[in-house]
Amino acid sequence: MSEYTKRTNLTALVTGGSSGIGAALVEELVAQGLRVYSVARSADKLARQAERLGSAVMPVVADVSSPSGWQQVAEAVSEPLDFLVHNAGILDPVGPVESLSLQGFRQNFSTNTESVLFLTQKLLPVLRQPGARILAVSSGAAFRAIPGWAAYCTAKAAMNMVIQVFEAEWAAARGIRSALVRPGVVDTPMQAHIREQDSRRFPLVEKFRALKRNHALASPEQVAKFMADILLCTCDAVFAQTLWDFYEKEELVHKMEDCDKKNR
Ligand SMILES: NC(=O)c1ccc[n+]([C@@H]2O[C@H](COP(=O)([O-])OP(=O)(O)OC[C@H]3O[C@@H](n4cnc5c(N)ncnc54)[C@H](OP(=O)(O)O)[C@@H]3O)[C@@H](O)[C@H]2O)c1
Repeated sequence: MSEYTKRTNLTALVTGGSSGIGAALVEELVAQGLRVYSVARSADKLARQAERLGSAVMPVVADVSSPSGWQQVAEAVSEPLDFLVHNAGILDPVGPVESLSLQGFRQNFSTNTESVLFLTQKLLPVLRQPGARILAVSSGAAFRAIPGWAAYCTAKAAMNMVIQVFEAEWAAARGIRSALVRPGVVDTPMQAHIREQDSRRFPLVEKFRALKRNHALASPEQVAKFMADILLCTCDAVFAQTLWDFYEKEELVHKMEDCDKKNR
């Protein structure tokens, strides 16, 4: 077993905890005995989540796209964090490059990219050193240009580099390890929003509708379990060595075995 599975009293912070993958991850981590700060803008959803899951969940109502939101989150955290999961994200604006507004682009970039950089910077004093792990939710769109998704593709690609710089700067210096996860196509409100797009603004929309019709989407719970295993059941070197991909999740079993061997 890895060092993490042996430890108790672990605390995580998950952004975008009110919906989809993030909500399922909050639930999974609580089920595994962690205390979890769940961050999002929707106060009502966070309140219902906390009521359902009990005192292990600490709701934090904040907008991670803004400096005041980063400050609010930092002020809400009152204990060392073992895990920081950057999951909050938005797709919009969707449409051809000719239609992209600077304001829309900036909102996407501040939510998907700036939040990862500057919220982490704010939380650095409470990230456990050594030992904290940062996991950010990437996307296939960070690696492949998708027509109509200029803002999302650009922001997720930049976010990937932010995480790689964290790893380059902090792995040895602070003992904080950072990694990325690609969740695949997941049955969340973001996917419902994708399927609602007009094909003139998003030419690949039919492909996403077909995935839903063919029951080809992963569930948020499956992805959350995968992410919890990455966080909790890997040794440091294995956690940070890779871009984790939900579609290659059987690899995780072998990598966990590698950790077990190293720990023997
Ligand atoms: N679903 C997929 O197929 C898929 C595929 C690849 C990558 N991803 C990535 O997975 C992550 C989760 O997406 P999802 O599919 O679970 O989408 P979702 O159901 O729409 O959830 C998005 C979450 O982000 C939060 N959020 C958005 N803007 C925020 C802001 N400014 N401040 C604070 N919280 C904010 C939302 O909460 P509030 O609205 O309450 O603030 C919500 O909890 C995203 O980063 C997404 O890019 C998803």
